[in-house]
Amino acid sequence: MDRLDGKIALVTGAGNGIGKATALALSREGARLILADCQLGLAGEVAAEVERAGGEALAVQVDVSDEAAVDAAVRDGLARFGQIDVLVNSAGGGSMNDGPVTELDLEEFWRTIRVDLFGTLLTCRRVIPEMVTSGGGSIINISSLRAIIGTHGADAYTASKGGVLSMSRAMAMQWAKHNVRVNVLAPGVVLTERVAAFIKPDDPIYQKSLLGPSEPEDVASLALFLASDEARKITGTVMRVDGGASIY
Ligand SMILES: NC(=O)c1ccc[n+]([C@@H]2O[C@H](COP(=O)([O-])OP(=O)(O)OC[C@H]3O[C@@H](n4cnc5c(N)ncnc54)[C@H](O)[C@@H]3O)[C@@H](O)[C@H]2O)c1
Repeated sequence: MDRLDGKIALVTGAGNGIGKATALALSREGARLILADCQLGLAGEVAAEVERAGGEALAVQVDVSDEAAVDAAVRDGLARFGQIDVLVNSAGGGSMNDGPVTELDLEEFWRTIRVDLFGTLLTCRRVIPEMVTSGGGSIINISSLRAIIGTHGADAYTASKGGVLSMSRAMAMQWAKHNVRVNVLAPGVVLTERVAAFIKPDDPIYQKSLLGPSEPEDVASLALFLASDEARKITGTVMRVDGGASIY
């Protein structure tokens, strides 16, 4: 119950799916939370759930691809809690408008890059200096198994998540001397509401999950570990949560 006692965590995409499960897991271990989501209502519901369980959370509305909005959210979080020790970037996700490079909608390409990659850059860019000032921190960026193994039909999303993975490694190198750790989680199929609606059990990527598809909590438990001091010597790693799909 106290693995994150005294820590402040900013979670993007905290209103739903992996971000929500991660926020709840961090809170159960004592973290106080800044819950950032473009859907304020959802973030507010998660904040209420945290508070009913005896935790503390601030819900903020932010489109992570908007620099001014990210800045405002971080400022609000700092005003309430004073520092940020953990940053989890979960906002984003693929969409049905993605596809092979020859066919995908180009606006969809830029939307995905703006949210998944540029959004991750913006939050890291804003939060890292705060972590340096307060003596360190842990950043957990949610990439995807698609950034590691060859898949088809989601090239914009794959490109954005590949960027998240590589950028995270570069940041891990850059900021280790300031005790800022940067790690990546690469989930395969995770049955959030959004994904359950469009990945069907006969999809090859679903079939490859030797242990079956994951639940959001399966990703959250690794995020919790990486956020905690138990992972104090771990940076620059990519951890797969894929039910064995990548050895299939
Ligand atoms: N679910 C999977 O199978 C799976 C697999 C690999 C990686 N991922 C990654 O995990 C992360 C979470 O996915 P999920 O399935 O939990 O999604 P989800 O749709 O359940 O939750 C995403 C949350 O992010 C918020 N969001 C979306 N765009 C935003 C923006 N521009 N600014 C702020 N908030 C925004 C949404 O409102 C939502 O609350 C995504 O980055 C996704 O790419 C998911």
